[in-house]
Amino acid sequence: MKGVILAGGTGSRLHPLTRITNKHLLPIWDRPMINYAIEALVKGGVSEMMLVTGGTHAGEFLRLLGNGDEFGIHRLLYAYQDKPGGIAEALGLAEKFVGGDRAVVLLGDNIFERSIRPCVDAFKKQEKGARVVLSHLADSQHLRHLGVAQLNGDRRIERIIEKPKVPPSEYAVTGIYFYDATVWGVLPRLTPSNRGELEITDVNNWYLEQGLMEYDVLDGFWGDAGESMEAYYKVQDFVRDHPVNRNDS
Ligand code: G1P
Repeated sequence: MKGVILAGGTGSRLHPLTRITNKHLLPIWDRPMINYAIEALVKGGVSEMMLVTGGTHAGEFLRLLGNGDEFGIHRLLYAYQDKPGGIAEALGLAEKFVGGDRAVVLLGDNIFERSIRPCVDAFKKQEKGARVVLSHLADSQHLRHLGVAQLNGDRRIERIIEKPKVPPSEYAVTGIYFYDATVWGVLPRLTPSNRGELEITDVNNWYLEQGLMEYDVLDGFWGDAGESMEAYYKVQDFVRDHPVNRNDS
């Protein structure tokens, strides 16, 4: 399985911090934000990965990560996104790298307390399709800034609603996604959303419509550090008090 880390975008929700650097290079306690995504994939058993980024600070990722040896990465490639066009557009840049293999896609601003390995292993056993990972969040104000799963009576996901005014459940869709090679045929069908982006939620809803989507529910803390200044500091506080990506977590 190949890893794809998405680290582009304008980071507008963290302005003005992101006027002077890429969001994923901002510190989260004792290391840059992107380190957590790298660590999560390596500890999840993924050793070949591509980092997709863009903008004027793309070169800093090379200075920070180099060839990835220091992080236990076997093969690290980079792709450059000319203009921020959304998560699904950024993912398209990894098509040649992933080839016919399966992919685990991780948003570079997501911080997971516990190992993602059980989800990676579950997807390896899944015959085909895609997999998302949910996190239980009781705060409906918070859910309104995320993708939220609409569950039916059997607790299957019916649909994912992006930034819902009225959240259909208390289960947020986190920024880790698993896809088989059919994803490359789905991306060209997408049209930009109201925010002018190709949405990963549209990709996931395509898999849901085909009945090809499975999911896990996370244990432990999860945060999207790029969601808002509030979320950024919530993640900082958590990481300072509970080291994440430790060998025993
Ligand atoms: C993206 C996804 C959203 C998901 C979130 C997780 O949101 O579109 O469904 O819940 O990542 O981090 P964005 O950060 O692009 O607003």
